[in-house]
Amino acid sequence: MADRVYNFAAGPAVMPEAVLKKAQAELLNWHGCGMSVMEMSHRGSQFAEIHAEAKERFKRLLKVPDTHEVLFLQGGATAQFAAVPLNLMDGRGASYAVTGNFSGIAAREAAKYGPVHIAYEGKDNGYSHIPTQDELDIGPESAYFHFCANNTIFGTEWHYVPETGVPLVADMSSDIMSRPVDVGKFALIYAGAQKNIAPAGLTVVIIDKSFAGRAAASTPQIMDYAKMIAKDSMLNTPPCWCIYMLGLVLEWVEEQGGVAEMDRRRAERSSLVYEVLDNSRIFKAHAEPASRSMMNVTFRTGSEELDAEFVKGAAARGLVNVKGHRLTGGMRVSLYNAMPLAGAKAVAEYMKDFEVEHHV
Ligand SMILES: Cc1ncc(COP(=O)(O)O)c(C=O)c1O
Repeated sequence: MADRVYNFAAGPAVMPEAVLKKAQAELLNWHGCGMSVMEMSHRGSQFAEIHAEAKERFKRLLKVPDTHEVLFLQGGATAQFAAVPLNLMDGRGASYAVTGNFSGIAAREAAKYGPVHIAYEGKDNGYSHIPTQDELDIGPESAYFHFCANNTIFGTEWHYVPETGVPLVADMSSDIMSRPVDVGKFALIYAGAQKNIAPAGLTVVIIDKSFAGRAAASTPQIMDYAKMIAKDSMLNTPPCWCIYMLGLVLEWVEEQGGVAEMDRRRAERSSLVYEVLDNSRIFKAHAEPASRSMMNVTFRTGSEELDAEFVKGAAARGLVNVKGHRLTGGMRVSLYNAMPLAGAKAVAEYMKDFEVEHHV
């Protein structure tokens, strides 16, 4: 489609074109029922089918064990920053690794509800490094250890699952469904859906059911995992359209070969851009090589004027939203599941051309 750009936004982000077309085809009349999904009762049989199918696909794709429940919630990952401590601290405290902006916000939010021990703080290295197992300092009496699996702003990613001796909680907002996860190792995983799996408005939580039912008495019912499990995420009106779109995206992921194929593709896409960075005399990658994210590639030239020129020139080629977050400056190229390989190739080619044009 000539009128579509390659959109490297960090989220909301690119969706698979086939999914958008299917949603378009079904928009006015879903499966012959004469209504749009947007117009259905969330208690009706049609939506019940959409909801159940999306949940089943999600569980199948991520191999979610029966010990765990999948919830479709609202409030974004930000609501989970509060819901996690409210439900899981259980009168104790928790340890948090701060490897970027959102894990810092999560730690500060949790500190409202109980003692927070900082297991790692990456400020001194500009959040370019993911701690090794040995660098983690888990506090005594921690009810859980929280980390952010992929740092969207700084472009770093945990390439291992830490073994801390306490239950694990992970924010997977920007890498969910992009790689296989051993879900059984986690007490809880949460993800705002608007990067890899759905439009904005949906948050997915995967919880080990044995951790539900311990919520502090003051927990709002909308944040109480046990209540949400009991109502199959329908304590109140769910984000119906987003759940429908999630189902279509997951159907697409299955057709493409599942999570293992998403993992292969993300490595292929991101290595095209990192290869240019590693051979460049003008661009410098932000993340340390061992901590690099395959979802968000961050880099800069060292000159704000050149960075701005790069961003402008990219847009002229139909490569949009490559400007870095205001906390980092420079550039950020987000390469989520729906980004075609051709998009990564186009940005890598542009980087090489830019370097030649600037005679370095
Ligand atoms: C890793 C991560 N965690 C949390 C958030 C906050 O998510 P939300 O805006 O859905 O509350 C974001 C948003 O970009 C994110 O990238």
